[in-house]
Amino acid sequence: MNLRIFDSEQEAAQSAAEYIINFIKEKPKAVLGLATGSTPLSLYAELAHACNDGLNFSGVTTFNLDEYVGLPAEHEQSYRYFMNKNLFSKININPQNTFVPDGMANDSQQACREYEERIKAAGGIDIQVLGIGSNGHIGFNEPPSAFDSRTRVVELTEQTISDNSRFFTSAAEVPRKAISMGVATILDAKSIILLSYGKGKAKALRGAVEEQPSEMNPASALQLHPNVNFYVDKASASSLTKQHKT
Ligand code: PGA
Repeated sequence: MNLRIFDSEQEAAQSAAEYIINFIKEKPKAVLGLATGSTPLSLYAELAHACNDGLNFSGVTTFNLDEYVGLPAEHEQSYRYFMNKNLFSKININPQNTFVPDGMANDSQQACREYEERIKAAGGIDIQVLGIGSNGHIGFNEPPSAFDSRTRVVELTEQTISDNSRFFTSAAEVPRKAISMGVATILDAKSIILLSYGKGKAKALRGAVEEQPSEMNPASALQLHPNVNFYVDKASASSLTKQHKT
């Protein structure tokens, strides 16, 4: 596990973007796993910038981690809407190569199975981008989440509903369910980038990096993966007790 602490979110995002940009230059048909939330926005801005400077995304395929159940693509808080707005509309990716779980599927179980199959058919995810929830969730794998879990319908915890209510007019409007890649789906990625910024993530990050892997902190499952890079800012690293690279 490789943990890098940066003075600012901007520097962390630039470094993470550089890793992805270099990968796409080497493998134009890269398969990226993507995340939503506030955290990846600075990374996506860097990727959009790279596209402006000539980086070609036309061969890239993407799979998002999760989507709220019951929100259509046109809903401003759906993760499909978020991705179109914050990344896909700003790069020359083929929209048909961008996949987000279908929160409106009539048969959610079937949609989950198909999502797993699509990832496999694409050759698996080369780089999975993750944020971390203040409760240690990755994707919407809330504590406790089994480390062998696959894409499935999950219930959001009160903590996540409260954290995400800032995007809605009230907590009552936050969907209670989502479709999320499982912990095992995430661990199947060939490499993983986890971004963590701000003091609100410090405790969860410490759990992920320094404590015994536990289903109560799903991000701690990343300790079991051979190629994980954490890009974090100083505030987020403030609870770490061991020596890490800077
Ligand atoms: P945030 O969410 O980026 O909005 O803080 C991260 C997450 O819940 O994974």
